[in-house]
Amino acid sequence: MALTQELEAALNAQVTLELESAHQYLALSAWLEGEGLPGMAHWMRMQSGEENEHAMKFFEFLVDRNATVKLGSIRAPQTEFESVVDIFRASLAAEQRVTEAINNIYAIATDARDFASYPLLDWFVNEQVEEEATVQQIIDDLERIEGNGHALLMLDREMGSRPEDDD
Ligand code: FEO
Repeated sequence: MALTQELEAALNAQVTLELESAHQYLALSAWLEGEGLPGMAHWMRMQSGEENEHAMKFFEFLVDRNATVKLGSIRAPQTEFESVVDIFRASLAAEQRVTEAINNIYAIATDARDFASYPLLDWFVNEQVEEEATVQQIIDDLERIEGNGHALLMLDREMGSRPEDDD
C-alpha cells in the first residue's frame, strides 16, 4: 500500500526535524565545551548521534515504502545561552516539540489506516517518553545542585560516561 501524500509529507518533514535536532545538540555540545564541561558536551554529542539515527529510521522507512525522500533545509541552531540549566530546559522544550510532531504523524497514519507505519511510530512514541524523562531528570539534578561547583563537576563526570549507543 502506498503512503498517502499527507503521510509522506509528514514523514519527510520528520527526517528534517530530526536532523535539525542533531544539529542543535551539536551546538549545545560546543557551548558546553566552551564552559569547560566535557562530560556534558560528550553527552550532547551522543544525543546528536542518536538524532541522526532517528532521521535515518524515517529515511529508511520512506525508502522501504517506495516513497520519495525530500530533505528540507535545516535552521541554524541557537548558540547563546544563559546557563547550563537553560540549555537543558531548551532541550526539553525541543523534545516536547518532537513528541508533538510524532503524535501528529500518528494521527495522520491512523486517519489513513496506514497500519504498516505503526511499529515505527510506536518505537518513537516510547523513545520520546524516555528522552523527555531523561532530560527532565538532568534539569531536576541541576536545580538541586544550583551554585554547588563541586556537585556540578560530579554530574559532568557522570554524564561523560554515557556510552556510544544507549537507546
Ligand atoms: Fe529524535 Fe530526541 O527526538
